[in-house]
Amino acid sequence: MTNWLEETPMPAAANRYESLIDVIHRRRSVRRFEPGQSVSRELLLQIAEAARWAPTGANSQCFDLLVVDDPAVREQVLEIFLRQSNRLIDHVKGFPAVKKDYMANTVAILIVLADARWKQAFPVATSPEWAEEYRANNERILVASIGAVVQNIQLAVTAVGLTSAWLSGGGEDTTNRELAALLGYPDCMRAIGTVPIGVPEKDLASRYRRPLAQMVHWNRYQPEKFRPDAMVDYYVKNVRQFAMYRGVEDPNQWQDAEKRLGRWREAFTGEAVTTGHGKD
Ligand SMILES: Cc1cc2nc3c(=O)[nH]c(=O)nc-3n(C[C@H](O)[C@H](O)[C@H](O)COP(=O)(O)O)c2cc1C
Repeated sequence: MTNWLEETPMPAAANRYESLIDVIHRRRSVRRFEPGQSVSRELLLQIAEAARWAPTGANSQCFDLLVVDDPAVREQVLEIFLRQSNRLIDHVKGFPAVKKDYMANTVAILIVLADARWKQAFPVATSPEWAEEYRANNERILVASIGAVVQNIQLAVTAVGLTSAWLSGGGEDTTNRELAALLGYPDCMRAIGTVPIGVPEKDLASRYRRPLAQMVHWNRYQPEKFRPDAMVDYYVKNVRQFAMYRGVEDPNQWQDAEKRLGRWREAFTGEAVTTGHGKD
């Protein structure tokens, strides 16, 4: 067997990886922007160009991109998302939702509209007993495609020196209805990804990530890496609000690591998830 990279040295490709992983590391969900800033449509189109090249199921390009750069329209979108976050506070108790006032300081808001009609371009069963199998997966293909679009947008935003967040609230029925009424998009579309873009108020360099060794399984699922249900519960109750907002990759660096991670500390930060915890 030949080692492809050793046999075919490609310094240009290696460079590309460095540039790419740098942008990937820097991409951050930032929810604070400098007020009073604006950018050209040319720059916004550079970001849109990254969206255009996202992979989509069956190359259906099952989305449209609604770019809000008019401050008057932005104000109305902001109002909708303020109501959306108030609903979260009222009806999803405990979720660490952030007030969305920061959207007032965006240079633009990109709304990725999923167009459900394109699901027929994905595999559709020709025998009834398989209809549900493919129908269900087509939902996933549509949503996954939108994920790739949003990811490309966020990476391009980072690459041009701006910052963004990824808001999923536009996909909720009530919020989507209000957005559609304001922005005039048809019923077959849904605002699955909304990306407020702005000039970062501060440099948020990092955020919690579990070690690579925990999530990579070579050739076969490694059961010792399975995160027990109790760990998921612990994350939701005790860790989530810090993992979402603190600018530190390794929670061992948190001053209050012991208190926040408790007996799950090694499981959240070490190489083997269940070390010391058996299968609880
Ligand atoms: C599908 C998806 C939906 C998300 N929805 C929201 C959201 O509604 N509001 C928000 O502030 N962040 C949202 N986020 C951002 C995550 O909270 C964020 O990616 C995560 O905490 C990791 O932080 P980082 O993006 O800075 O690395 C979403 C991310 C994804 C991938």
